[in-house]
Amino acid sequence: MQKHLLQGMRWYSKIPELPASNFKPRKYAGLSYEELMKIRKTNLQPGILTFYNSPVLISQGHMQYLFDNRGKRYLDMFAGIVTVSVGHCHPYINRVTSEQMETLWHTTSIYLNPKIHEYAEKLVKLLPGDLKVCFFTNSGSEANDLAMMLARLHTGNFDLISLRNSYHGGSPYAMGLTGTSRWKHNFPNGFGIHHVINPDVYRGIWGGKHCRDSPVQTDRTCSCNARSCDANQQYINQLHECLLYSAPSQKVAGIFVEPIQGIGGIVQYPKNYAKLAFELIRKHGGICIADEVQTGFGRTGDHFWGFESHGVVPDIVTMAKGVANGFPMGAVVTTPQIAKSLHTALQFNTFGGNPIACTVASAVLDVIENENLQENSRRVGGYLLEKLSKLRDEFEIVGDVRGKGLMIGMELVVDKKSKIPLDAEKMMSIWENCKDMELLVGKGGFYGNVFRIQPPMCITLEDADFCVDRLNEK
Ligand SMILES: Cc1ncc(COP(=O)(O)O)c(C=O)c1O
Repeated sequence: MQKHLLQGMRWYSKIPELPASNFKPRKYAGLSYEELMKIRKTNLQPGILTFYNSPVLISQGHMQYLFDNRGKRYLDMFAGIVTVSVGHCHPYINRVTSEQMETLWHTTSIYLNPKIHEYAEKLVKLLPGDLKVCFFTNSGSEANDLAMMLARLHTGNFDLISLRNSYHGGSPYAMGLTGTSRWKHNFPNGFGIHHVINPDVYRGIWGGKHCRDSPVQTDRTCSCNARSCDANQQYINQLHECLLYSAPSQKVAGIFVEPIQGIGGIVQYPKNYAKLAFELIRKHGGICIADEVQTGFGRTGDHFWGFESHGVVPDIVTMAKGVANGFPMGAVVTTPQIAKSLHTALQFNTFGGNPIACTVASAVLDVIENENLQENSRRVGGYLLEKLSKLRDEFEIVGDVRGKGLMIGMELVVDKKSKIPLDAEKMMSIWENCKDMELLVGKGGFYGNVFRIQPPMCITLEDADFCVDRLNEK
């Protein structure tokens, strides 16, 4: 018999089964667990983040499932940190990538090859307005570095705005944008960057019962009606004050916004925040950058891009992670006018737009379309959110459930009234138990008390049931 995970008091007699799969993993033939751990401690960098007290040794993946070195199967509800967008080792992607590997690996942009051109044309068809020019990078941090440079060169302004609790990357340049101390090292970074108050409608100063674009609202009360939001205006006033007080000549190069904060714990802003914020930034000479590294490619269900839910068209969109299902790749898409700002010097990235990366990324778009994965995110994500919201209603320690599509957060607290984050030990114990019971979920939020559910977009309703049952079975 297993303990009830959320309450730690009830017991359940029947353990829900992981949905059936015919897939047979290969026998693991790599380094022993002990050898591997020794090398990790001795030869890999000390700042590396490893999940769980006894880290899982993953040897193989198939669609939404992962297998460890002993052949144990897990439902992967975190997708290699929101990266395996369409499924581990997706057979179609494997096939077309193998064909490309037989043909051409690498040339850089000094010669023509079809893949980068085919992909650029295909990608921009999915973007609105004048967002027609692509730069390719190898990661999200690189994409945001480049977007920062473009914003500064294009506007002639230097200062940039990002939100507290945001994550935009770990490179020395992007680290300055990131608004969370845990990811910042003590060396000069972030010069000219202002982190404005996070419009977090659950934990922030302002927030109410209609603020979010999610099937699940906070348990806060407010006197607003569904169409107007006081909290939003308060947060916008704070942004305005930052522009007035902190920006040189009250001018900025731009603002970076994650449509939904990912690492920050799936934080959603009041509806219309991004719209009003973008208008304000443009009045102060800046351009608007949507960081779609986690929210892009259909994950939020209703739309292909997270910014679409906010009713805005950004000037620059940055992408990575799910763009290539786990193959290292990033992209920046912008308007021809902004792209031209880089004309004063050459801009070069050895691997950016590599033929294999572009083949994978192109196949990802095919799979999203052919397998209807955006709609699947909407349907399965909505179902999951509804089921998880019942846990919020039932359990005192589930303070909030939020998100859209397959971008879901469940915030655990000591009690609903105080919202004190659940202590790390209890959080870890629930998390470890999930892992022992074949369920891998992510963790995030400023206090590390938010479970993040951001699986490959191919998960099924049965997988969703399994995930919730694991937490809820009595
Ligand atoms: C929203 C967001 N932007 C940028 C990045 C940086 O991407 P990368 O780790 O590929 O450099 C991340 C990484 O988690 C992210 O979540």
